[in-house]
Amino acid sequence: MKNLFLFAIMILFFTTLGNAQIPDKFENLQVLPKEISKRELMGNMKSFALGLGVRCQFCHVGEEGQPLSEFDFVSDEKETKKKARVMIQMRDAINNQHLTQLGEENALQVNCVTCHHGQEEPKTIELVMNETIEKGGIESATQKYRELREKHYGGFTYNFQARPLERVSQSLAGSGKVDEAIALLKLNLEFHPESFMSHYSLGEALAMKGDKEAAVKSLEKAYEIMPNPRIKKKIEEISKK
Ligand code: HEC
Ligand code: HEC
Repeated sequence: MKNLFLFAIMILFFTTLGNAQIPDKFENLQVLPKEISKRELMGNMKSFALGLGVRCQFCHVGEEGQPLSEFDFVSDEKETKKKARVMIQMRDAINNQHLTQLGEENALQVNCVTCHHGQEEPKTIELVMNETIEKGGIESATQKYRELREKHYGGFTYNFQARPLERVSQSLAGSGKVDEAIALLKLNLEFHPESFMSHYSLGEALAMKGDKEAAVKSLEKAYEIMPNPRIKKKIEEISKK
């Protein structure tokens, strides 16, 4: 009980310390209510920073390590601040005009984190992979995946389960980019050796390349994990060719 009290005092102390460097009057509020309290304004700002995984200087003029009292919060120099205004309006419209129409008593509220999941731009891992393949080819994409996984695994920003890379690979194979699909499926199997779907898709892709032996091996592995008659049939089909 006593510890809890001390903890509360500490939290209060540090929040006040941080906020003490922030002016009490605001001069350039265009979308937030002009009469907003400092506490509420800072609540907004912290949820922006957390939602996008950034610090104050992402939107405001100031440097890492500089005291907040020296930041120019009034300035509209940064594009990101102007974009954030549009986002605040969007958030409020979703919450106040749209979600209210559902007639739920305690309607959930959308906030920056709902879409952004700790990223500057809200992108799924599928989108990041497709973009990176387009720009830099499959090698830079596999490199990118490893880096993102290293940095974000266990966090809430990207889905590192087996499914996303399987979906990207399947669509690559479908558009004739079989080598790329094979590379991604092999990457996926490093992290998800028990995904029958990755083994199965790899088998299909290898068959498309005409590598019958390797294809059958992959499909047999898929069948071992998931003894489904359709996989069996596929194996027979390819073996006969
Ligand atoms: C994603 C962008 C973004 C981030 C990150 C952000 N802000 Fe802001 N901030 C804004 C926007 C947009 C406004 C103006 C809102 C408006 O026009 O109503 C603003 C306004 C302010 C103001 C009021 C300035 C004035 O006098 O008009 C202060 C103070 C402020 N922010 C502090 C902070 C602090 C401290 C942080 C870091 C904890 C922070 N902000 C992080 C976007 C951001
Ligand atoms: C409904 C989903 C959604 C919500 C909620 C949302 N955003 Fe966004 N935001 C997006 C999308 C999508 C983009 C990318 C638009 C583009 O550039 O194509 C984006 C882009 C941005 C950008 C520009 C990033 C850049 O690097 O150019 C900023 C800044 C931003 N959002 C801030 C916020 C803030 C602050 C909030 C909360 C007040 C918020 N967003 C809430 C979907 C959302």
